Amino acid sequence: MKHSRRGTLSALSAALCATLAFAAASHSHWDRIPDKDHLRVNPLAAHPEAAAAGALVFRDHCAQCHKADARGDGHKRPSLHNENLRAATDGDVEWFLRQGDLAHGMPSWSSLPSEQRWQLVAYLKSIQ
Ligand code: HEC
Repeated sequence: MKHSRRGTLSALSAALCATLAFAAASHSHWDRIPDKDHLRVNPLAAHPEAAAAGALVFRDHCAQCHKADARGDGHKRPSLHNENLRAATDGDVEWFLRQGDLAHGMPSWSSLPSEQRWQLVAYLKSIQ
């Protein structure tokens, strides 16, 4: 009796661990964005030229990895025409550019002037 109860407990805790591991693995950087960033609207939204300006910033800083057409290198550097970017708010994208994902090879762009980050957001949204 004692034994089987311990068996059940360890089966339960194994299941719990598996669930937690799955939850951790399925978390992407788009899942942990603070609300105040998530809700932010592009301050350049009323400026149609922002996307074109963003394309120039992209050429200078991003194309080396994501390629001139933003379709990525087919390996670790992803295409930026994708479901994440379609689903993301302007604020989500700006937040991600500030954070980067150094562990996976995406630099942080927090040192760019914030206007250039928002131009990039306008550009990335315009190519979806
Ligand atoms: C040194 C190479 C490199 C440079 C330069 C770079 N990136 Fe990235 N970027 C990456 C990698 C690698 C990833 C994938 C990171 C990951 O898996 O989390 C990524 C991911 C992203 C994503 C998330 C894509 C998604 O679907 O989750 C965005 C958006 C992005 N980059 C935009 C940019 C922009 C805009 C610039 C220029 C300011 C830039 N990147 C410059 C390597 C780079």
